[in-house]
Amino acid sequence: MANTLKIRTFEEYQEKYQQSIENPEKFWGEIAEEFQWMKKWERVLDWNFDEPKLEWFKGAKLNITENALDRHLETRGNKLALIWEPNDPKERFVRYTYRELHDKVCQLANALKEMGVKKGDRVCIYLPMIPELAISLLACARIGAIHSVIFAGFSSSSIMDRVNDAQAKMVITADGLYRGAKQIPLKRVVDEALENCPSVEKVIVYNRLNWEPNMVAGRDFKWEEVVDYQSKSCPAEPMDAEDPLYILYTSGSTGKPKGVVHTCGGYMVGTAYTFLNVFQYEESDVYWCTADIGWVTGHSYIVYGPLLTGATTVMFEGIPTYPDPGRFWQIIDKYGVNQFLTAPTAIRSLMAHGENHVLAYSLDSLKVIGSVGEPINDEAWKWYHLHVGKERCAVVDNWWQTETGAVMISGLGNISPMKPTYAGYPLPGVQPVLLNQEGQEIQESDVEGYLCMKAPWPSMLRTTWGDHERCKNTYFSNYKGYYFSGDGAKRDKNGMYRIIGRVDDVINVSGHRFGTAEIENAINTNDNVVESAVVGYPHPVKGQSIYAFVICESEIEDEALMRGAIIESVAREIGRIAIPEKIQFVSGLPKTRSGKIMRRILRKIAEDEIASIGDTSTLLDPQIVDELIAGKL
Ligand code: PRX
Repeated sequence: MANTLKIRTFEEYQEKYQQSIENPEKFWGEIAEEFQWMKKWERVLDWNFDEPKLEWFKGAKLNITENALDRHLETRGNKLALIWEPNDPKERFVRYTYRELHDKVCQLANALKEMGVKKGDRVCIYLPMIPELAISLLACARIGAIHSVIFAGFSSSSIMDRVNDAQAKMVITADGLYRGAKQIPLKRVVDEALENCPSVEKVIVYNRLNWEPNMVAGRDFKWEEVVDYQSKSCPAEPMDAEDPLYILYTSGSTGKPKGVVHTCGGYMVGTAYTFLNVFQYEESDVYWCTADIGWVTGHSYIVYGPLLTGATTVMFEGIPTYPDPGRFWQIIDKYGVNQFLTAPTAIRSLMAHGENHVLAYSLDSLKVIGSVGEPINDEAWKWYHLHVGKERCAVVDNWWQTETGAVMISGLGNISPMKPTYAGYPLPGVQPVLLNQEGQEIQESDVEGYLCMKAPWPSMLRTTWGDHERCKNTYFSNYKGYYFSGDGAKRDKNGMYRIIGRVDDVINVSGHRFGTAEIENAINTNDNVVESAVVGYPHPVKGQSIYAFVICESEIEDEALMRGAIIESVAREIGRIAIPEKIQFVSGLPKTRSGKIMRRILRKIAEDEIASIGDTSTLLDPQIVDELIAGKL
């Protein structure tokens, strides 16, 4: 993408911001001109937040992979597109130029077509962090199939829910994955899920561990047998700007995770523009984001944003502490990484291992270091700035969500002012407001409120898969005329935003989102459990951890055994990433007279803020609070 889109000074940012607010259609129309379209749009934007109806670049035709791959071949054909670093530092890394990546994507795209996948079909991807994961996303996009990536830590039950909700025709998976010293099965988990997924016709299995997994005749095919002989060219399917590009399931405060839908045109423009500006990417830079492509950060800032910009993007299979807690810093020195993006959880866990691991590496190449996915505390921010950034690099704190598709509030490389724990200013085109309880905009500074958006941006979600009403109710109904993020935020006198955290029943554990209802439903699958209530509480490394209050049917003879059973049920229904750290057995829960659980009280108990529990006289059974406090873990 042309560097004409790059903002180079703070004054220029202010100017652009103003323009983007005064005339969004002109602003985004000019940015969109930089991309390759098969047919130009009739209108830049058509919207209302009531239905909601959100259309960007309507009437235009494009294929995002033409923009992420083909467009670069002439000038960047031999430039590295993807560098893959394996879990084990002794294993060989993989590097693909733009030409090579293009060829790999086309080969898989041809295989998908041959196996019956057509435009609009859904393909679920359940893979380790290997190049084939990025290739799978792009191959789907090449032929207009809608990808739905499922993080490889989710259980078979979660896969089943997602596959069935999307009515996926195909699954792409692997025998298993490496995670530090462990090897974890994937195909076996998929097999279990597919016992109850009638829509799936075929499965492609990549061989990562040489495990020779069970293969179902006529359904399962080895990657190398269906992909390797394919042609390296595959025409890019013309897509309407508003055709879905992908579904990504994410948790909310109620019910099962919902499928956030992103579309081709707006998502392309939004991810590329924000990538270029937030990281201030220069042509010869090497960029690395440590997220997993199972989450939105990996979609937007490992795959689409960087490749649309013609960047070199690093992908890492492993974990920060294997073989030792210097692994991230070793990789930065190995490839001369210039922009680095990670999560506060990773920073805090590495901080706990001491400075020596980071001081052993030069980190000279770094220019911009980013934090994303959860609020970063002051101590972690300062450690990151001092020991990783050597007080020389810009720290950018990116606030956004699966639903927003791209970064919304953040510093832009070294051109924006930095303030520890503050994400900063909105990106051009982003119009945040803080609302009070009554839904009125708060104008003052140094105040807190509900973080909402009063205007659309190109990469925003369009709907929730198969249930538009749910999208409307979740994001556009709390405050009429606004998109509600579910976060609370504070704005200082200079207009910088600090994200405080979720104000709904969503818990963010190590940057991973879970709904309390989702975890409670999993716990309640135990025969012996009558009712449960789950809340988040502060955790020094994970940001938040999960505390479960559980009522059992009969007297528990062996608490440890019962705890184990509850943990297993959460692991089975969701995945081990969602297991509660603390489980307290109780005889009742604090409820209002209408039967609603008072989570505020449970949160105070879990947070050890007993003094600020407040008035409990309106409860159905105020005594229960004393019991809960007495039994607190
Ligand atoms: O609560 C906010 C938190 O993560 C939520 C979004 O999670 P998810 O959809 O999984 O997307 C994660 C990747 C962007 C938000 O509602 N969050 C995300 N980034 C930040 C953050 N909280 C504070 N600071 C951030 N930079």
